[in-house]
Amino acid sequence: MKIRAVLFDAYGTLLDVHSVALLAEQLYPGYGERLSILWRDKQIEYTRLVSMSGRGTGPEPGVGSALYRPFWDLTRAGLRYAAQRLSLAMPAAVEDRLMNEYRHLSAFPDSREVLAELQRRRIPTGILSNGDPEMLDVAVKSAGFAGLLQHVISVHPARRYKTDPAAYALGTAALGLPAREVLFVSSNGWDAIGATWFGYTTLWINRGGLPLDPLGADPTHTGSSLRDVLALLAPVPA
Ligand code: LAC
Repeated sequence: MKIRAVLFDAYGTLLDVHSVALLAEQLYPGYGERLSILWRDKQIEYTRLVSMSGRGTGPEPGVGSALYRPFWDLTRAGLRYAAQRLSLAMPAAVEDRLMNEYRHLSAFPDSREVLAELQRRRIPTGILSNGDPEMLDVAVKSAGFAGLLQHVISVHPARRYKTDPAAYALGTAALGLPAREVLFVSSNGWDAIGATWFGYTTLWINRGGLPLDPLGADPTHTGSSLRDVLALLAPVPA
């Protein structure tokens, strides 16, 4: 199957959320890792909660959730929960500092190199993320991706979060390609599975050597670095 375009997940895939854990550890010694893991888990749990509980209100069945709230708001809600759960006092200024760190994440060292190589090979690329458009705009600029991505797609117009098919469908609609001709790349196992169910050709970047979720929906490919994307594409003409 010829891959004609590559879509990337943003948080944890192209953007390294590690700096958030470092700042959390500086602010709350001994709690940084737990805080950042709980924060991330709650953030994602809330996306599922609003997507699964909200009735469709949009023009197409299943599109548009009355309970939808932008990813930024759910990220802040997740942070508040995590701090409370760990009994950490978090004044508004500290909350804002952590949120600001989340807004300006660094790119993984190999991200720009891989995006530049895809550009050289004239393969359309994009982000398909739960992040809302404003978050993605700042993230793309601060990670140095401006000019390296043709599409920055937020789930926002669908008012549904991944793994809802309405969210994944925004990628194929923007590219004008069938899902199987698009390589969807994510470091989040659940996202790689959701995209596989949707029909994308998928690459799970398993940087941490984590077990595969045993749901019988294995991603098409598994790798350990973003560079593994390049090996899955047709060789470049010299
Ligand atoms: C994203 C999160 C889920 O960028 O990683 O969509």
